[in-house]
Amino acid sequence: MSGWTIRTAARSDEPTIVKLEALAFGCASWGEKAVADGLNAPKVSALLIFPSGEKAAIGFAFWRSLGEDAEILSIGVTPRARRRGAARELLSHIIERARETGMRRLFLEVDKANCGALALYRLENFEKIGERRRYYKNGGDALVMRLDL
Ligand SMILES: CC(C)(COP(=O)(O)OP(=O)(O)OC[C@H]1O[C@@H](n2cnc3c(N)ncnc32)[C@H](O)[C@@H]1OP(=O)(O)O)[C@@H](O)C(=O)NCCC(=O)NCCS
Repeated sequence: MSGWTIRTAARSDEPTIVKLEALAFGCASWGEKAVADGLNAPKVSALLIFPSGEKAAIGFAFWRSLGEDAEILSIGVTPRARRRGAARELLSHIIERARETGMRRLFLEVDKANCGALALYRLENFEKIGERRRYYKNGGDALVMRLDL
């Protein structure tokens, strides 16, 4: 039995996602307005993950579909719940849904210095396909990664 429950987030989950996003990303957080925009954007799905049987979500993800391509926009787990497989579970869920709905490729961007996230994506077989110099507010470079579905 899986130790996680994942469900699609509703607009009423906005305050929960705002809190989770701030906890996960700290000073690199999108902030309240961007979270609300993400929840309302067409073709964007938001997910929440819970330890099975518990009521409080510990992580979230935003992803969107664009024709045959899908893109992960954000994924975060609260610091206290890390290294228990939640992000991997969210990723697997997205990969499965994208495959089921006929998507061919899954893309994402990740800070080149974000070793934890990079390790996670490599584990799921994402490959680096490009680099965006000074992509982030703090001047950090982004790697563009792709998984062929
Ligand atoms: C990156 C993040 C989402 C990972 O969430 P998580 O739930 O802790 O990840 P998982 O437990 O599913 O990790 C699965 C595997 O990925 C790798 N991994 C994850 N975090 C890692 C870290 N900090 N250092 C090294 N490897 C890491 C490991 O191989 C891990 O397996 P293991 O724990 O058995 O060694 C989480 O650290 C986070 O929210 N960070 C801040 C927000 C962020 O950077 N999001 C990604 C933006 S692109």
